[in-house]
Amino acid sequence: MKEILKKILITAEEIDQACKELGANITKDYQGKKVVLIGLLKGCIPFIGDLAKYIDLDLEVQYMVVSSYRGGTSSGELQIKYDLESSINGYDVLIIEDIVDSGKTLETIQAMLMNKGANSVEVVTLLNKIANNNLKPKYVGFEIENEFVVGYGLDFQEKYRNIPYIGILKEEYYD
Ligand code: IMP
Ligand code: MG
Repeated sequence: MKEILKKILITAEEIDQACKELGANITKDYQGKKVVLIGLLKGCIPFIGDLAKYIDLDLEVQYMVVSSYRGGTSSGELQIKYDLESSINGYDVLIIEDIVDSGKTLETIQAMLMNKGANSVEVVTLLNKIANNNLKPKYVGFEIENEFVVGYGLDFQEKYRNIPYIGILKEEYYD
C-alpha cells in the first residue's frame, strides 16, 4: 500500500467487477439507442476505459473539461475548458464521472447537455459520496462515506491518479 494512504478502500479486483456489472446493465438498458459516453476529464480516464470494454453497444465517446466556480451560491456556474467535438442532438448521453461529491458540477452539466438536444442524460459514476448529495445517479459503482479518496483516476493535488486501486488519504495530507 502507498505510504500516503490510511487504508485501501476498493481493490483493483472489486473495481473490475463493478465495471463488469455496470457495463452489463448499460448494455441491457440501451439496446437500439444512439449512445454517447461523455467522459469528464481528467478523473474519468481509467474508469471510462475499463467500463467501455464491458459495454456491448456501438457507442461513441467524447470528452469535456469543465470546472465549477465554488462559491456560496448554488447556481453552480460552469467554465467549459474543452467542449464536445460534435453534436449530441438526439443521442442518449451517459456522463462518465470518477466521483460525485456535492453533485453541483454534474447538475449543471446535465441541464446544459439536455439544452443541446440530447434525448436523455444519465450519470455513471464509479463512486458516490451519498451523504453529500441527493442526485441519485442512475449507475453507481460504490457508495462511499465522506472521506477523501485517491487512485484510479482520482487525484490529490494532481498526484496519485495512477494508483490501480482506491484508497483513503491520510488526514495529515489534507488537514
Ligand atoms: P462535486 O461537484 O462536488 O460533485 O465535485 C466532484 C469533483 O470533486 C470530482 O469530479 C473530483 O474531481 C473532486 N472530488 C470530490 N471528492 C473527491 C475525493 O474524495 N478525491 C478526489 N477528488 C474528489
Ligand atoms: Mg473530477
